Amino acid sequence: MPDICDLILDDHEIFRRRFAELDGERESEVSALCALWAPLAEHLERHANAEEDLFYPALLRRGSDAEEETDDAIRDHNKIRDAVRRVADAQPGTDEWWTAVQDAREENSDHMAEEERGPLADFRRNAGDGVRGDLGLRYVSFNSEHAGGRQVDTTDKDPRQFIEEHSPG
Ligand SMILES: [Fe+2]
Repeated sequence: MPDICDLILDDHEIFRRRFAELDGERESEVSALCALWAPLAEHLERHANAEEDLFYPALLRRGSDAEEETDDAIRDHNKIRDAVRRVADAQPGTDEWWTAVQDAREENSDHMAEEERGPLADFRRNAGDGVRGDLGLRYVSFNSEHAGGRQVDTTDKDPRQFIEEHSPG
């Protein structure tokens, strides 16, 4: 069974590599920049949506620091979504575009580091293999159902409302 914690870490590794690849493309054609950025943007959005559908609701059902960790994560996801939207609004290859890409990278890097130390580590310690495997399967299904950004929810979430909706009792 695929463990959801491993699958999330796999995505994080892909993000680090895809952002690093952009470093070598400063002088590249707009078409090359778009070819690299479009799938990365799509993956960032789908990843946040998958975590909000599967991982954070499951964390809220068990972790002791779950509310604080979820609050931080939703705020971070909103910041990443905001930067991705700013990239989409900018002309590819311009300073404004690169600044927005850099903002997305910074927000995402900070978020991944925090998520790996906090909620992911907690969940690996506190949720059983069966739960992590079941969520892993659902994570795989989510990604195939929403491949290419199909019906991915890219809207910002209110952290308080999200926690209320998904907290037990
Ligand atoms: Fe996340």
